[in-house]
Amino acid sequence: MLSLDLTGRRALVAGVADDNGFGFAIAKCLAMAGATVCVATWPPALNIFLNLIERGKIDDSRRMPDGSLLQFEKIYPLDAAFDTLEQAPEDIRSNKRYKDTGDFSIAGLRAQLVADFGAQPLDILVHSLANGSEVKKPLLEVSRNGYLSAVGVSAYSLVALVQHLGPIFRPNASVLSLTYMASERVIPGYGGGMSSAKAALESDTRLLAFEAGRKWGARVNTISAGPFASRAASAIGIIERMVRYCAQNTPIPQALEAAEVGNVAAFLASPLSSGITGSTVYVDKGYHAMGMPADALTAAGSAG
Ligand SMILES: NC(=O)c1ccc[n+]([C@@H]2O[C@H](COP(=O)([O-])OP(=O)(O)OC[C@H]3O[C@@H](n4cnc5c(N)ncnc54)[C@H](O)[C@@H]3O)[C@@H](O)[C@H]2O)c1
Repeated sequence: MLSLDLTGRRALVAGVADDNGFGFAIAKCLAMAGATVCVATWPPALNIFLNLIERGKIDDSRRMPDGSLLQFEKIYPLDAAFDTLEQAPEDIRSNKRYKDTGDFSIAGLRAQLVADFGAQPLDILVHSLANGSEVKKPLLEVSRNGYLSAVGVSAYSLVALVQHLGPIFRPNASVLSLTYMASERVIPGYGGGMSSAKAALESDTRLLAFEAGRKWGARVNTISAGPFASRAASAIGIIERMVRYCAQNTPIPQALEAAEVGNVAAFLASPLSSGITGSTVYVDKGYHAMGMPADALTAAGSAG
């Protein structure tokens, strides 16, 4: 029987701070397929996340099909805006949410993984993080700083993670990220340079697939997910309308569930997808295939 088996593989999912985003759903699906899962959490959200776990507030979401609770082998602090600790400005390093977390940079993450698990500890890397401080601003109003920080945190961070963690991958590693179709089509309201960041992320996925494939035998893919009301997406301000619009206009007219993204991530992390790299894989109920809203005909009909 064909089975999706990740037993013996270790995953790092970067960008998990609650039980409501794609990162959590992916972590759970990877664990359900047998992988051991570490997560990396943005320092400003770290204590809240640890409290949620400690107080049992997300036990229902952590429940696995066999009744046990999803376990994270390790929870690392990570601010993906910084490749090394030296790059972080003093006011960040001394901030109360950062100062006791140790080295929260990408280089620090690599050092901690090696210290915890040895020289080659990683099979699966998931980049499930994004931040655009000016996401509510149209491109015509976005500042240079806002634009560059959106691209830095949401796209360059993938390049930097692969640069730093590639050397500690085991053979046949798989890298995944999350993108959104605002990279290629106009989504009014998805501003602040975030659409540019997603375009960069998709382009980098192709080149990283080539370079990391030749260098380490690793595959690199990105999942283009449909809209989903996560904490990050709520910052866009119109996410509920985006979800509703898609649920009405997709070929499969239902709202997307995070587990549907998690399942595809588990497949892309597994040997079953050994022939897939450099791809943008749509998990959006088919919305990307539409050229006209499904309700346009009804609207036109009723107008006539
Ligand atoms: N929700 C959607 O509608 C949607 C659609 C397509 C793609 N995506 C993408 O999915 C990914 C995950 O987002 P989500 O919607 O599940 O929300 P989420 O809130 O669960 O995840 C975003 C995570 O990024 C983290 N983060 C922010 N800045 C960071 C930094 N500097 N360093 C490290 N971590 C940082 C946040 O703490 C959070 O945990 C993102 O790349 C997002 O753009 C989301």
